[in-house]
Amino acid sequence: MGIPQPAFYIFKCEQSSPPGMPKPSCVNEQTRDLFAHLSQIIMQKGLIATVHPVRTACLNRCQQGPVMLIEPGHYMYVNLTKEKITRIIDEHIIGGKVIREYLIADEFWDEPLSVEEAMKMAGR
Ligand code: FES
Repeated sequence: MGIPQPAFYIFKCEQSSPPGMPKPSCVNEQTRDLFAHLSQIIMQKGLIATVHPVRTACLNRCQQGPVMLIEPGHYMYVNLTKEKITRIIDEHIIGGKVIREYLIADEFWDEPLSVEEAMKMAGR
């Protein structure tokens, strides 16, 4: 038997912007320990062998930050707090039940653009 794949990847945006920048970012004084919290919860629950947390740069939904994307499934959770992250691990990852009220609104997360459409828009 080979090395098993993770069942989940959790991409947590870790982008911060310098003080005074008008653009919001996912990491500031109040939110900078969310990735540590996510990692701790994954460890505490005994999930580290199959749930892989990943720090990412901007996921392009800054207005809804802090955000994290769970794969598989393309689930974008927004306006995160420690309490929400704990509940997402308990209910989505362990319980298998997506928490709809924490997901990004449909208007900001429409169907994926196809490769063909993207190339056409880019003039290729
Ligand atoms: S800074 Fe996090 S989505 Fe852009």
